[in-house]
Amino acid sequence: MTQLNRRAFLRAVGATGGAGAMLATMGALGLTTTAQAAAAREAAYRAPRPGDFSLTGRAAASVVVLGGGIAGLATAYELGKAGYRCTVLEARDRPGGRNFTVRGGDTTTDLYGHRQTARFSAGQYMNAGPARIAQWMITLDYCRELGVPIEVFTNVNADTYLYNESAGMTGPMRYRAAKADVFGYVTELLAKASDQGALDRALSSDDRERLTEFLKDYGDLGNTLEYTGSSRRGYSVWPGAAGTPGVVAGDVPSASEIFASGVGRYFAFEFEFDQAMLMFQPVGGMDRIPHALAEAIGNRKILTGCAVTQVTDKGDGVRVAYTQGGRPRAIEADYCVAAMPPNILAKVPHNLGSGVQTALEAITPSSAGKIGLEYRSRWWETDHRIYGGITETDLDVTHIWHPSYGFHGERGVLIGYYNTGANADSYAPLSPGEREARAVAAGVKIYGEKYRSELASSFSHHWRQFPYQEAAWHSTPGGPDHPRYKPLTQPSGRVHFAGDWLSYMDAWQHGAFSSARSAVTAIHQRVLA
Ligand code: PHE
Repeated sequence: MTQLNRRAFLRAVGATGGAGAMLATMGALGLTTTAQAAAAREAAYRAPRPGDFSLTGRAAASVVVLGGGIAGLATAYELGKAGYRCTVLEARDRPGGRNFTVRGGDTTTDLYGHRQTARFSAGQYMNAGPARIAQWMITLDYCRELGVPIEVFTNVNADTYLYNESAGMTGPMRYRAAKADVFGYVTELLAKASDQGALDRALSSDDRERLTEFLKDYGDLGNTLEYTGSSRRGYSVWPGAAGTPGVVAGDVPSASEIFASGVGRYFAFEFEFDQAMLMFQPVGGMDRIPHALAEAIGNRKILTGCAVTQVTDKGDGVRVAYTQGGRPRAIEADYCVAAMPPNILAKVPHNLGSGVQTALEAITPSSAGKIGLEYRSRWWETDHRIYGGITETDLDVTHIWHPSYGFHGERGVLIGYYNTGANADSYAPLSPGEREARAVAAGVKIYGEKYRSELASSFSHHWRQFPYQEAAWHSTPGGPDHPRYKPLTQPSGRVHFAGDWLSYMDAWQHGAFSSARSAVTAIHQRVLA
């Protein structure tokens, strides 16, 4: 391969991301130790028990928990195991925080004043917040412990589509075809480069032979090391009975065309430690988790409609002022766990010090939005043969999710957009009807007219513009152990902090659970000391 070709090759590979990811996989034969890490963490965490107090002369304390999201609920649940008397103050009318499942009849009003009532039919729902759980996450341990049944969430599907309009694609391409072509050409180029001696400095002749064997298999190359298409692309006529061998999908794009399409740019997603299949979801909606937690805690200990207005560390206890239905109230407790979103907590007057305030303000909120589109038929299953999984686009809708529940049912809810950042912010100010129209217009480009004609109703949600949240998740530049956040990772007087934003797994329930466990352990040790 000439210098010029190699440079062109590298540029093209850089554009798709596919080969980089593939080589990373090849190089990373040490594989992951996340299972070991999870086991170590499990062993490291031990829930407080009533017996811990025997012969210590100490007793469980009272704790006021600010925020009834996953971190707050987990705190009250874990402390409750040892008899701590916890009260959770939740500003909204339901516990769960960003863990929010929308069903027919649910109503929201965003900060623009857009009021929506979901019209989803019975059994249909959308998870407006968290919607997928990796197998190593402690979220699944809580599902097991609380008896919340789970099912597979399809995060990757060979039959969903890729569509990059800005790259000039005139129609969608199936993941399976895109993978066959991208990996086919990348392996062809690498196999030829190796064959022509370009990798001689890096590889022994044995290495080269093994690499070639791997590449031929990985890219479905012939003995000439050429990619000429593959049954991996799928068939235009599927194989059937004797006499019907099928017709392999043709029209194989050239290497140049496939790299220009950019269809490989999303392949690395499924290699990520937090996004790799299999993934899971609770049966019936993600909010089965906060509901189970709330039931275990005792629903009467969770005060909804209670917005915190002031936090005072008194040295020997904590006083929290709040409003309930507009009426001022206050509660005192031995300890407090502030498990509210940091951007909301930053607006609450407190005497926890300027270090706390500076740290809270250094954490920046991020945007994300979703629209649920309920259809009268599951046309994506019948017409497109897509059962769950995600279509990736470069349109402002970004990700389109097919439901991983209710297969072959009469109706279903697609996530018509799951977008973040500027794309989410561009939909947020629109009326719900305008959001729907724009999302549907994008979907029609990929799926055709049924995307519009079969639509029954929609419901959209934008976290950055939602009261008491004002963020989908947060960014803690430098990570939670940066000295800037030290006033939050340790208690301020008798106030401890918890939330996914104080973990390395921000934007995951796992982070909220981990952070809650950490606050619980700190308080319990303090009480026992
Ligand atoms: N947990 C969220 C999700 O899976 C947000 C997120 C996306 C976090 C990608 C990390 C990586 O959609």
